[in-house]
Amino acid sequence: MSGASRGAPTPRPRPEARRVRVGAPAKINLTLRVAARGEDGYHRLSTVFHAVSLGDRMRLTDRPGRISVVTRGEHARHVADDETNLAVRAARAVRDRFGGPRMGAHLEIEKDIPVAGGMAGGSADCAAALVGAVRLWGLDVGDAELFELAAELGSDVPFALLGGTALGAGRGERLEPLECAGTLHWALAVARRGLSTPTVYHRFDERVAAGTSTPMDAGRGRPGELIGALARGDAATVAGLLVNDLQPAALDLYPGLAATLELGRAAGALAGIVSGSGPTCAFLCADGDAARAVAAVLGPSPEVTAVRTATGAAPGALGPVGGDPR
Ligand code: C5P
Repeated sequence: MSGASRGAPTPRPRPEARRVRVGAPAKINLTLRVAARGEDGYHRLSTVFHAVSLGDRMRLTDRPGRISVVTRGEHARHVADDETNLAVRAARAVRDRFGGPRMGAHLEIEKDIPVAGGMAGGSADCAAALVGAVRLWGLDVGDAELFELAAELGSDVPFALLGGTALGAGRGERLEPLECAGTLHWALAVARRGLSTPTVYHRFDERVAAGTSTPMDAGRGRPGELIGALARGDAATVAGLLVNDLQPAALDLYPGLAATLELGRAAGALAGIVSGSGPTCAFLCADGDAARAVAAVLGPSPEVTAVRTATGAAPGALGPVGGDPR
C-alpha cells in the first residue's frame, strides 16, 4: 500500500471514451440491368445507383479488445446484433487488415433504412463501420484500400461509401460517379414483409430459364440518355427511363407490390419502380409537395407498412466529395 490517506479514495476523473459518428445512405437503383448468372454465382450488372437522404446513423465508441453492436430504431428488431452483423464484420475486417488485436469498438446503429427492403441498408451500416473504425482508431487507410475491402464485404458496399449517383458495373462494385443536377424527390413505400436478395436473383434465373425474363447482353453500352437527363436535372425524362430487370421476379414473389406501384402512379408520381431486389417501391415525383401527396395516399394501403419521403442525391459514408466528412 502506498501512504495515501485512509478515507474513501478520491474518484479519478474517467477519461472520456473516444467516439466518432458516421452516417450512410439508402440507395435506389435508377436502372438495374442484370446479365445471366456467372460462374462465380453472381450476376454481372449495369446499374445506376442513387443515394437518398434516408439513412442510418452510427456512433462508434472506443472499447479496446472487443467489437460489439446494438441496433435501435423502428426496424431494429429484424437485425441480429451478433457476429453475423455486417457492421461487426466490417469493423473486424478493418482491425485485422489495417489495425491491431487490441483495437475494439462498440457500434450503436440508429436504423432508418428498411431491412430486407432492396435499399442496401446492411451495406450502408457496413460502409459506416468501415469509415468509423478507420477514424476511431486513427488508421492511415487510403480510399483505394477501403473500396477494395468494401467490395469484399458486399456488392453494394462500395457505393454506400461513395454516395451521390454512380454507374455500377461488375457485381455492382465497379463505380463511376455521375453528375446529378438539382434534387430528385422521392416517395418510398415500405412493404409489409421483406424479400431476400438471393431469393429474388434465384427467381430471376428461373424466369430466364423459362424465357419470361431476358438477361442483359454482356456488351451493353452506357445508359447515355439517362446520364444526360441526370446531368440536366430533368426529372421527367429520368422518370421515363427508370428500369429494373429484377422487378418481375420481385412481383412474382410478392404480387401485392403491383397494387402499390399502381396506387403511387395514380396519386401523381412521375414513375414508380421496385427498388433493387425489393420490396420497397420508390416513386419519383416532380417536387417535394408531390412526393408528400403520393406518400399520404400510399400510407393507408394494406400492403404498405411505412412511407417516407426522401431527396437525392445524398452523400455516402465517406462524406460529401471534396467537403468535410460528417
Ligand atoms: O454481394 P452481396 O453479399 O450483397 O450479395 C448477396 C446475394 O445477392 C449474393 O449471394 C447473390 O445471390 C446475389 N447477387 C447476385 N449478383 C450480384 C449481386 C448479388 O447474384 N451482382
